[in-house]
Amino acid sequence: MKSARILALATLASITMASGLAAHTDATNPAVIKRMEVMKAIGGSMKTLAGMAKGEMAFEAEKANAAVATIAEQGMMVPAVFEANETDPATEALPAIWENWDDFAKKADDMVMAAKGVAEITEQGAIGAALGQIGGTCKACHDDYRKK
Ligand code: HEC
Repeated sequence: MKSARILALATLASITMASGLAAHTDATNPAVIKRMEVMKAIGGSMKTLAGMAKGEMAFEAEKANAAVATIAEQGMMVPAVFEANETDPATEALPAIWENWDDFAKKADDMVMAAKGVAEITEQGAIGAALGQIGGTCKACHDDYRKK
Protein backbone atom coordinates (compact mmCIF):
# COMPACT_ATOMS: atom_id res chain seq x y z
CA MET A 1 0.00 0.00 0.00
CA LYS A 2 2.74 2.35 1.03
CA SER A 3 4.69 1.97 -2.21
CA ALA A 4 1.54 2.51 -4.27
CA ARG A 5 1.03 5.71 -2.39
CA ILE A 6 4.58 6.88 -3.03
CA LEU A 7 4.15 6.04 -6.69
CA ALA A 8 0.96 8.10 -6.80
CA LEU A 9 2.81 11.01 -5.26
CA ALA A 10 5.69 10.69 -7.70
CA THR A 11 3.27 10.64 -10.65
CA LEU A 12 1.57 13.64 -9.19
CA ALA A 13 4.82 15.54 -8.78
CA SER A 14 5.58 15.02 -12.45
CA ILE A 15 2.09 16.27 -13.35
CA THR A 16 2.23 19.40 -11.27
CA MET A 17 5.90 20.24 -11.71
CA ALA A 18 6.30 19.60 -15.43
CA SER A 19 3.45 21.93 -16.24
CA GLY A 20 4.31 24.91 -18.36
CA LEU A 21 4.27 27.86 -16.06
CA ALA A 22 5.98 29.87 -18.77
CA ALA A 23 3.36 28.76 -21.27
CA HIS A 24 0.66 30.07 -19.00
CA THR A 25 2.09 33.56 -18.78
CA ASP A 26 2.95 33.66 -22.50
CA ALA A 27 -0.52 32.85 -23.79
CA THR A 28 -2.45 35.82 -25.16
CA ASN A 29 -5.65 34.19 -26.48
CA PRO A 30 -8.21 34.75 -23.68
CA ALA A 31 -9.95 31.42 -24.41
CA VAL A 32 -6.64 29.59 -24.03
CA ILE A 33 -5.75 31.54 -20.88
CA LYS A 34 -9.15 30.61 -19.45
CA ARG A 35 -8.69 26.88 -19.99
CA MET A 36 -5.15 27.10 -18.60
CA GLU A 37 -6.58 28.80 -15.50
CA VAL A 38 -9.06 25.98 -15.00
CA MET A 39 -6.20 23.49 -15.22
CA LYS A 40 -4.09 25.61 -12.88
CA ALA A 41 -6.84 25.60 -10.26
CA ILE A 42 -7.05 21.82 -10.58
CA GLY A 43 -3.26 21.53 -10.40
CA GLY A 44 -3.11 23.83 -7.38
CA SER A 45 -5.64 21.68 -5.56
CA MET A 46 -3.62 18.55 -6.25
CA LYS A 47 -0.52 20.36 -4.96
CA THR A 48 -2.33 21.23 -1.73
CA LEU A 49 -3.32 17.59 -1.27
CA ALA A 50 0.19 16.36 -2.08
CA GLY A 51 1.72 18.90 0.31
CA MET A 52 -0.49 17.68 3.13
CA ALA A 53 0.06 14.02 2.26
CA LYS A 54 3.83 14.52 2.41
CA GLY A 55 3.60 16.53 5.62
CA GLU A 56 5.06 19.62 3.96
CA MET A 57 1.84 21.44 4.72
CA ALA A 58 -0.17 21.26 7.94
CA PHE A 59 -3.14 18.92 7.63
CA GLU A 60 -6.46 20.71 7.66
CA ALA A 61 -9.46 18.56 6.84
CA GLU A 62 -11.46 21.53 5.62
CA LYS A 63 -8.74 22.58 3.19
CA ALA A 64 -8.24 19.04 1.95
CA ASN A 65 -11.95 18.56 1.26
CA ALA A 66 -12.15 21.97 -0.39
CA ALA A 67 -9.30 20.97 -2.70
CA VAL A 68 -11.12 17.79 -3.73
CA ALA A 69 -14.31 19.83 -4.29
CA THR A 70 -12.40 22.33 -6.45
CA ILE A 71 -11.16 19.53 -8.68
CA ALA A 72 -14.74 18.32 -9.18
CA GLU A 73 -16.10 21.85 -9.77
CA GLN A 74 -13.36 23.01 -12.13
CA GLY A 75 -13.38 19.60 -13.78
CA MET A 76 -17.03 20.09 -14.70
CA MET A 77 -15.97 23.23 -16.58
CA VAL A 78 -13.37 21.45 -18.69
CA PRO A 79 -15.62 20.55 -21.65
CA ALA A 80 -17.02 24.10 -21.80
CA VAL A 81 -13.64 25.83 -21.74
CA PHE A 82 -12.03 23.45 -24.23
CA GLU A 83 -14.91 23.01 -26.65
CA ALA A 84 -13.94 25.79 -29.04
CA ASN A 85 -10.85 24.79 -31.00
CA GLU A 86 -8.86 27.83 -29.93
CA THR A 87 -5.14 27.98 -30.21
CA ASP A 88 -2.19 30.04 -29.07
CA PRO A 89 1.55 29.73 -29.65
CA ALA A 90 1.92 28.89 -25.95
CA THR A 91 -0.74 26.20 -25.74
CA GLU A 92 0.12 22.68 -24.69
CA ALA A 93 -3.19 21.32 -25.93
CA LEU A 94 -2.96 18.84 -28.80
CA PRO A 95 -5.27 18.98 -31.87
CA ALA A 96 -6.28 15.41 -31.00
CA ILE A 97 -8.69 16.94 -28.44
CA TRP A 98 -11.03 18.16 -31.16
CA GLU A 99 -10.54 15.06 -33.32
CA ASN A 100 -11.58 12.84 -30.39
CA TRP A 101 -13.90 15.21 -28.58
CA ASP A 102 -16.14 12.57 -26.99
CA ASP A 103 -13.15 10.74 -25.55
CA PHE A 104 -11.67 14.00 -24.25
CA ALA A 105 -14.98 14.94 -22.61
CA LYS A 106 -15.21 11.47 -21.11
CA LYS A 107 -11.74 11.79 -19.63
CA ALA A 108 -12.79 15.08 -18.04
CA ASP A 109 -15.85 13.33 -16.63
CA ASP A 110 -13.65 10.51 -15.29
CA MET A 111 -11.73 13.10 -13.29
CA VAL A 112 -14.94 14.68 -11.95
CA MET A 113 -16.33 11.29 -10.96
CA ALA A 114 -13.06 10.31 -9.28
CA ALA A 115 -13.06 13.53 -7.25
CA LYS A 116 -16.74 13.14 -6.37
CA GLY A 117 -16.05 9.56 -5.33
CA VAL A 118 -13.51 10.57 -2.69
CA ALA A 119 -14.98 10.04 0.76
CA GLU A 120 -14.79 12.95 3.15
CA ILE A 121 -11.20 13.30 4.34
CA THR A 122 -10.94 13.40 8.11
CA GLU A 123 -7.30 12.43 8.64
CA GLN A 124 -3.99 13.00 6.91
CA GLY A 125 -3.57 9.30 6.21
CA ALA A 126 -6.56 9.32 3.86
CA ILE A 127 -5.08 11.82 1.43
CA GLY A 128 -2.75 9.38 -0.30
CA ALA A 129 -5.65 7.22 -1.40
CA ALA A 130 -7.56 10.27 -2.64
CA LEU A 131 -4.54 11.35 -4.67
CA GLY A 132 -4.23 7.90 -6.13
CA GLN A 133 -7.91 7.88 -7.05
CA ILE A 134 -7.76 11.24 -8.82
CA GLY A 135 -4.18 11.29 -10.11
CA GLY A 136 -4.59 8.55 -12.69
CA THR A 137 -7.30 10.54 -14.43
CA CYS A 138 -4.95 13.52 -14.93
CA LYS A 139 -2.34 11.30 -16.51
CA ALA A 140 -4.86 9.49 -18.72
CA CYS A 141 -5.85 12.77 -20.35
CA HIS A 142 -2.44 14.46 -20.43
CA ASP A 143 -0.88 11.39 -22.07
CA ASP A 144 -3.18 11.73 -25.06
CA TYR A 145 -4.08 15.37 -25.22
CA ARG A 146 -1.28 17.48 -23.84
CA LYS A 147 2.18 18.13 -25.29
CA LYS A 148 4.91 16.55 -23.22
C1 HEC B 1 -9.83 15.87 -20.02
C2 HEC B 1 -8.40 16.11 -20.11
C3 HEC B 1 -7.62 16.56 -18.92
C4 HEC B 1 -7.72 16.13 -17.61
C5 HEC B 1 -8.65 15.08 -17.03
C6 HEC B 1 -6.73 16.87 -16.86
N1 HEC B 1 -6.04 17.72 -17.68
FE1 HEC B 1 -4.63 19.07 -17.11
N2 HEC B 1 -4.46 19.75 -19.03
C7 HEC B 1 -5.15 19.24 -20.12
C8 HEC B 1 -4.76 19.96 -21.32
C9 HEC B 1 -5.26 19.69 -22.72
C10 HEC B 1 -3.82 20.93 -20.91
C11 HEC B 1 -3.11 21.97 -21.80
C12 HEC B 1 -3.98 23.23 -21.94
C13 HEC B 1 -3.35 24.29 -22.82
O1 HEC B 1 -2.12 24.52 -22.72
O2 HEC B 1 -4.08 24.91 -23.63
C14 HEC B 1 -3.65 20.77 -19.45
C15 HEC B 1 -2.82 21.55 -18.68
C16 HEC B 1 -2.61 21.37 -17.32
C17 HEC B 1 -1.75 22.20 -16.50
C18 HEC B 1 -0.94 23.41 -16.99
C19 HEC B 1 -1.80 24.67 -16.88
C20 HEC B 1 -1.08 25.92 -17.35
O3 HEC B 1 -0.70 26.75 -16.50
O4 HEC B 1 -0.87 26.09 -18.57
C21 HEC B 1 -1.79 21.69 -15.22
C22 HEC B 1 -1.06 22.21 -14.00
C23 HEC B 1 -2.70 20.56 -15.25
N3 HEC B 1 -3.19 20.40 -16.54
C24 HEC B 1 -2.99 19.78 -14.15
C25 HEC B 1 -3.94 18.74 -14.15
C26 HEC B 1 -4.23 17.91 -13.00
C27 HEC B 1 -3.51 17.99 -11.66
C28 HEC B 1 -5.23 17.05 -13.38
C29 HEC B 1 -5.93 15.99 -12.58
C30 HEC B 1 -6.46 16.32 -11.28
C31 HEC B 1 -5.55 17.35 -14.77
N4 HEC B 1 -4.75 18.37 -15.21
C32 HEC B 1 -6.51 16.69 -15.51
C33 HEC B 1 -6.08 18.22 -20.09
C34 HEC B 1 -6.54 17.56 -18.95
